[in-house]
Amino acid sequence: MDVIDLQPVTAVTGEHSPTAQPQAKAKSLRQLAINPNHWYVVAQSAELTDKPLARTLWHQPIVLYRNGDSQVAALEDRCPHRQVKLSEGQVDGDNLVCAYHGWHFTADGRCAHIPYLGPQQKLPPCTLRQYPVIEQDGFIWLFPGDPALAADRPPMGVPEWDHLNYIGSVALIDVQAHYSFLIENLMDMYHGHLHGGAQVWANPVLADLIADQDHVHAHYDAESYYRIDKIWSVSQLFIPALRKLHPEPLDVYYHYPHWASTLGEDFKIYCLFAPVSETHTRAYLLHFTSLNRFPNLHKSPLPVRRFFKNIFTNSASFVLRRLVREDVLMLEQEQQAYQQRPTYKGPELNRTLTAVQQLIRQQAAGD
Ligand code: FES
Ligand SMILES: [Fe+2]
Repeated sequence: MDVIDLQPVTAVTGEHSPTAQPQAKAKSLRQLAINPNHWYVVAQSAELTDKPLARTLWHQPIVLYRNGDSQVAALEDRCPHRQVKLSEGQVDGDNLVCAYHGWHFTADGRCAHIPYLGPQQKLPPCTLRQYPVIEQDGFIWLFPGDPALAADRPPMGVPEWDHLNYIGSVALIDVQAHYSFLIENLMDMYHGHLHGGAQVWANPVLADLIADQDHVHAHYDAESYYRIDKIWSVSQLFIPALRKLHPEPLDVYYHYPHWASTLGEDFKIYCLFAPVSETHTRAYLLHFTSLNRFPNLHKSPLPVRRFFKNIFTNSASFVLRRLVREDVLMLEQEQQAYQQRPTYKGPELNRTLTAVQQLIRQQAAGD
C-alpha cells in the first residue's frame, strides 16, 4: 500500500507547459474499459418484478428475470434463434420465453422447449451466456468477467441497507460520460462549490491519500452542519439558519469499481457503478442517515423501528436528485469537451485524481 506524498503541488497544463511530460502512447483514460472481474450493480431489487428487465453492462446486453422461486437469473439478452431481445419476452415458471416464436430457455441458458418442435426434430444445442448474479442489500450484483473468479471476490455490499439504525435514500445517475469522469467527481471534494446549500460539508482540506491496486482512500479535514441527534435535526436540511458548522472527518473511498464516503458518524453515501460504454455510465447513489445517536429508539420493538425506517426511506432522494442533476451537467460537458479536444489536459490541484486515474489504468489492464 502506498502513502502518497501530499506536498503542495503547482498547477501544470500538460498541453502548454514546456516541462510537460511527453504524452504516453497508452490509450486515453476516457477510452479505457472496465475490469470485468468485479461485481457491478445492474438494478435495484425493486426494479425487477415478474417481467424480464433489460440492462447493458459494458456493451453486453443482459436480461434479468426472477424464476418461480423469485431467484434472480441473468442471461445474454439475445435469442439464439433470430437474435431478438429476450427481455421482450416473458417468464414462465423457471424459464424465460422469447416473444417471437416462444422458445423457452432455462436459467443456465439452455433451450428447453420449442412449442412447434416436430416429433422427428431435436432441440437445437443452443447455449446462452449465463452470468453470475446475486441479490444482496437491495440491489442486483452481476459479475461480467470470468465466472470462475466470482466466488473469490464477494460483492462490496451495503450493510446499512437492511440495518434498522439507518435510513436510506436512492437516486439513479444516468450520465452520457465515461465512468472515470464520475469517479473523479466523487473523489474530488473540492467541487462542493457546484452544489451550494445542498451540500452538508464545507471547507474540505485533503489531509491523507492512501492507494493500492484495488483502492484509493482520500481523507479530508472538513466541517459539517450535519448532526442527527435530535428528532428535529433533519430540519437543518431545509432551514439554513439552523445550521452550525463543526469539524468532521470526511473520507472518500474508491473500492474499485464502487465508491463510498463517510462524514463523521451520522452520514454515509455510496455510489454503485454499472458502466454501459465509453460514453455512458449508470450508477446508483445511496445516502444513509444513522440513527445510532437515538438510544431510546433502539429499545423500541422491532416492528416500530421497521416502521420508522420504512416511512423515512427515500426522504432525502430529492436532495440526491438535485446533486445528481448538477453533477451530470458538468460530467456531460467534460465528456463533450474531451471528444472535441481529446489530448487537452487541464491543470489539476487535487492529487486524489492522479491516484484514481492510476487505479483505473491498473484495473483496465487487469492488474
Ligand atoms: S427469435 Fe426467439 S424464438 Fe425465434
Ligand atoms: Fe457532486
